[in-house]
Amino acid sequence: MTVLPIRLYPDPVLLTPAREISDINGELQTLIDAMAATMYHAPGLGLAANQVGELKRLIVFDVDQREGSPRLQVLINPVLTAQEGEIVYNEGCLSVKDFSAEVRRAARVCVEGFDREGRPVCLEAEGLLAIVLQHELDHLEGRLFLDRISRLKKNLYIRRLKKQQREATA
Ligand code: NI
Repeated sequence: MTVLPIRLYPDPVLLTPAREISDINGELQTLIDAMAATMYHAPGLGLAANQVGELKRLIVFDVDQREGSPRLQVLINPVLTAQEGEIVYNEGCLSVKDFSAEVRRAARVCVEGFDREGRPVCLEAEGLLAIVLQHELDHLEGRLFLDRISRLKKNLYIRRLKKQQREATA
């Protein structure tokens, strides 16, 4: 199974909104399989197409893998249709290396979209799944969890990243 390179912040593809998918074809199935392989290989709880350089509204996720019972979920053109409550969780991202921060999100969400066969899906989620869904939906808007933390924390991260890059090229 193909494991794709994961784009890292500040790659512009991560900061660009993804486009609606109009055709669920073989090429898309190949991308879904490759994204799943990449997510499990990382490992990560979710992956958005932007993160492998594809500006398509497609996410894969699996919050059950941690209990040793993987269950891949795929959402095409997902839309957040309802949200309520509040939850704070220490988030990381495969595209943001060596950094995590507390992010405030809705505690419960409804997300609608399509599965890989094109069947409509309506997901009601809470807890970790709700967090992962909101995190991945943000990716499709070209938004990272860095955009949901204080400017001070984000700047600390950017400064550290620049320092690392300077040291790597020195
Ligand atoms: Ni992420």
